[in-house]
Amino acid sequence: MREAARATDLLDWYDRHARDLPWRVGPRAGAAGLRPDPYRVWLSEIMLQQTTVPAVKPYFETFTARWPRVEDLAAAADADVMAAWAGLGYYARARNLLKCARVVAEEFGGRFPGSYEALLTLPGVGPYTAGAIAAIAFDLPAIVVDGNVERVMARLHDEHMPLPQAKSVLTELAAALTPVERPGDYAQAVMDLGATICTPRNPACGLCPWRRACAAWEAGTAAELPKKAPKKRKPTRLGIAYLARRVDGAWLLERRPDKGLLGGMLGWPGSDWGEAPQEDPPIRAEWKTLAGEARHTFTHFHLRLTVKTALVPMDRPPIRGDFVALSEFRPADLPTVMRKAYDLARGA
Ligand code: ADE
Repeated sequence: MREAARATDLLDWYDRHARDLPWRVGPRAGAAGLRPDPYRVWLSEIMLQQTTVPAVKPYFETFTARWPRVEDLAAAADADVMAAWAGLGYYARARNLLKCARVVAEEFGGRFPGSYEALLTLPGVGPYTAGAIAAIAFDLPAIVVDGNVERVMARLHDEHMPLPQAKSVLTELAAALTPVERPGDYAQAVMDLGATICTPRNPACGLCPWRRACAAWEAGTAAELPKKAPKKRKPTRLGIAYLARRVDGAWLLERRPDKGLLGGMLGWPGSDWGEAPQEDPPIRAEWKTLAGEARHTFTHFHLRLTVKTALVPMDRPPIRGDFVALSEFRPADLPTVMRKAYDLARGA
């Protein structure tokens, strides 16, 4: 006879095995009345959307060292925040991050609101993030469903309906298990279980605190779940990036419009990206086409960039973009695809 899954069994496991993450205050801290800073919880949750914990850690450390409070981030220059975010991807998150910091600083007196509904009104904060902040920072019994939680619920209940169709069913199953005691630790415990034991491939069922309650463990189907509707094949787009270097070492860069892909980020001037990109050089020059391509995959397409380089004299004005002095130019401020084009040009 299968046991019922109990939140307390998972919490006991969490007290022993919680991951030590820079935005956490440590296991059992919640029981001692200590809560993490809502600013740090919010920042970590925005960064962790579509990104892994190891990728986020250094960015989180950099941001919190440079902007320790939400007011500090609110007062930062847009370009500094976009540069610090470079490499994390999904740049709309960074633009909304700044908007949200400014709303919290100006309209909420620098304090994140302490309810799910109020959190949901903030820029860039959707149901998942509002739930996560409500639970983790304010210990409210919000329902927190991310990919980890969906996987754990699908397995616990041996639910074979494919995602995304199964989302509402899995959310209801997650809601039924969410405890009123220690909901913040519980939310993080399910995430940790999903990240370390109930992993997408080769789940470590032998170590799972919910094994005896798990329908998929009993049925031997854990590794096949959750089922997913087949993904659409991504199309490939082509483009040209123009890397112009002035004789004093300055690079010709262009800030992309706020709306759209890589919005607000600095990058190389280029053609449109499509099936047959047209030449559109940002400055008159003798362009040299490099061997190879800069390849990058975005959410909805693969991109193959042809990289062209040119050396230009001091007195030649660009058609678009601005020269950035060598002393001001940091390749790390570029989004990854632009960084790849730069590395190709540098022969890296
Ligand atoms: N993924 C998203 N939020 C997380 C958190 N607070 N802890 C661990 N993994 C997470």
